[in-house]
Amino acid sequence: MVSPPAVILGLETSCDETAAAVVRGDSEVASSALYSQHDVHGQFGGVVPELAARRHIETVEAVVTEAMRHAKVAWSDLSAVAVTQGPGLAGALLVGVSFGKALAYALRIPLIGVNHLEGHVASAWLDQPDFPTPCVVLVVSGGHTHLYLADSDGSYRLLGQTLDDAAGEAFDKAAKMLGLGYPGGPAIDRVARSGDAGAIRFPRPYLKRGNLDFSFSGIKTALLYYLRDLDRAGTPRPVADVAAGFQEAIVEVLVEKAFEAVRRHRVGALAVVGGVSANSRLRTLLSSRAASAGVRLALPRLAYCTDNAVMIAAAGLRAYRQGRFASWELEADPELPFPARQASQASRKRPAGTTRAKHPSLV
Ligand code: KG4
Ligand code: ZN
Repeated sequence: MVSPPAVILGLETSCDETAAAVVRGDSEVASSALYSQHDVHGQFGGVVPELAARRHIETVEAVVTEAMRHAKVAWSDLSAVAVTQGPGLAGALLVGVSFGKALAYALRIPLIGVNHLEGHVASAWLDQPDFPTPCVVLVVSGGHTHLYLADSDGSYRLLGQTLDDAAGEAFDKAAKMLGLGYPGGPAIDRVARSGDAGAIRFPRPYLKRGNLDFSFSGIKTALLYYLRDLDRAGTPRPVADVAAGFQEAIVEVLVEKAFEAVRRHRVGALAVVGGVSANSRLRTLLSSRAASAGVRLALPRLAYCTDNAVMIAAAGLRAYRQGRFASWELEADPELPFPARQASQASRKRPAGTTRAKHPSLV
């Protein structure tokens, strides 16, 4: 007898998005509901953790109900509840973990704790279930800029990471300096379209170092001084050109390092995931470079780049099949590490004092 396909409810509340989704069988997305808190935090120029947690409490039940209604599944159809355990904001994570735990307990079905970053990684396979491994995965979001080698046995090896700011964080801070609001990445992406990317050249840090680590704080400081000098001279800011030049510097570094990792590890596939993978210039450059290098590329569709619950349900489905269930003692973990083996170089270690939770764009 063929057993019915698993039906997983995914829940994501790690930062400023309250999201729920139902994924069935072979990663069939039955529904995706999302409430974004950007209106709440926009006025503060970054995420206010206490407000985020409160808003999650207010909206989580409605978002879950919406996801269930759209998927046309009954509570009794669910096989498991998968919830983001971390990394993220403590109070925000706690809402999802408590809600997911209570729901799974009441329904007498398994609870699955999902690493938010593994969720992002899973998003690469949503539209390309046959995407091959081994492959290089670049996770590029508000709190992470990490390169991994995903092996065919499902394990990961860390190849490189940012030594200071994450790429998304750099976008958010630049947008703040330019008065473009929060979140900054989409704003810079939009404004840059009418700018000249070659008008102002920002530094490309670490491009020549020959390693796979990143550093974005220097570009940010260069922008700060550039704007300060303009302001002192009373020269109007060429905002579109600045946005385009700044974006170009970050995107170029991301693309160069990602393809260097592909070359060095002799793989034929590259997946780029996380909020910054929504960047239009990054997508264009990655696509043309992949085509000319004969590398297979996975870029999630835009809705799956930024935080969403489909990716959490998809990662949950994988864990369900492997029987990786959480106990009722599951706790939110703001610093939950990605389960990757460390590469041997000393450079893998983050410099002391720079440890940060997933979302540094806090106020
Ligand atoms: O994955 P995500 O939604 O949350 C984290 O896990 O951090 O990523 C959010 C980050 C923010 O820094 C946001 O500015 C950036 O992704 N982002 C973008 C774009 N859309 C979102 N950065 C550049 N261009 C975009 N179009
Ligand atoms: Zn994320």
